[in-house]
Amino acid sequence: MLNMGGPSTVPETHDFLKSLFLDRDLMQLPFQSLLAPWIARRRSPMIEQQYEAIGGGSPILRWTEHQGAGMAALLDELHPTTAPHKAYIAFRYARPLTDECATRMRADGVKRAVAFTQYPQYSCSTTGSSLNELYRKGIDGTLSGIEWSVIDRWGTHPGFIEAVAQNVERALQKFNPSVRSDTVLLFSAHSLPMSVVNRGDPYVSEVAGTVQAVMQRLGYSNPWRLVWQSQVGPRPWMGPKTDAALKGLAKLGRKRVVLVPIAFTSDHIETLFELDHEYCAEARESLGMEVQRAESLNDSPVFIRALADMAAQHLKDYSAGKISPTSVQMGLRCPGCENATCGKQKAWFAKGGE
Ligand code: FES
Repeated sequence: MLNMGGPSTVPETHDFLKSLFLDRDLMQLPFQSLLAPWIARRRSPMIEQQYEAIGGGSPILRWTEHQGAGMAALLDELHPTTAPHKAYIAFRYARPLTDECATRMRADGVKRAVAFTQYPQYSCSTTGSSLNELYRKGIDGTLSGIEWSVIDRWGTHPGFIEAVAQNVERALQKFNPSVRSDTVLLFSAHSLPMSVVNRGDPYVSEVAGTVQAVMQRLGYSNPWRLVWQSQVGPRPWMGPKTDAALKGLAKLGRKRVVLVPIAFTSDHIETLFELDHEYCAEARESLGMEVQRAESLNDSPVFIRALADMAAQHLKDYSAGKISPTSVQMGLRCPGCENATCGKQKAWFAKGGE
């Protein structure tokens, strides 16, 4: 289960930030090996306070463990020919990192594995970076001798869409029935720098595909917009910004909103701090809005079943020779890609790793 991860305790914040700013698949900075530790040191106190405010760390490891255990148990029933199944977690910037995951997999003598991204929509900054890291560990011997296949994106999987739609419906129930259908659904995803979007990264269009599928499942019951959060630094990022959209809606007199996190599978700092502590609080207190936040997927049994269904179908199709180790779409590099590792990684996974 590949994801970015988050510091489980506040003291882990600095190392998390340092790993993130050092990731050249995510961003290229001048003198990165020197600048990254400096930025991490500078930003740590503020981010530590935010993790403190959400309960002393990120819950992403706890939720991923829960989801993984539930998925593996279901998978034993759904696809017994490859049982027993076990979920391993490889986070990109927090423990357990890929090295720790590799140690556990080696200790268990794993010979066959599915690299299952936990980002529903593909971006080279997220899933791409995790796959590049797995590839590096595969060729340097840390994770060698394993036959790999990849589930690289699943932003419109019906089970995932159902799980999100149910959480939206639950949030809508909190509004008075007389105003419910006028309530605006504001789908919020982590933004991307425009340099990444313009390179041809598929994330923005895949997030839009998820939103469209959720709205279709909801019968287009409410007006909606897709907005983008967590922009940092002076360079242009994908917009509109989530907080600016809330202000704009308030100005237009559309003061009832459900905020829907749409690009992550569990709570993390961007939902618990940015959406809840910052945007929802400001919208209620300063803009006089009625705002509810749709719950994250966390322990949703519908979502855990969806993960198991995706993995079971993948294993079944793979065993039957109906699919290759990687999807057709994964084979295509961004038209503006200048990162040679992307090409090598895709070629390596396409032949099943090892
Ligand atoms: Fe997208 Fe390399 S940046 S394939």
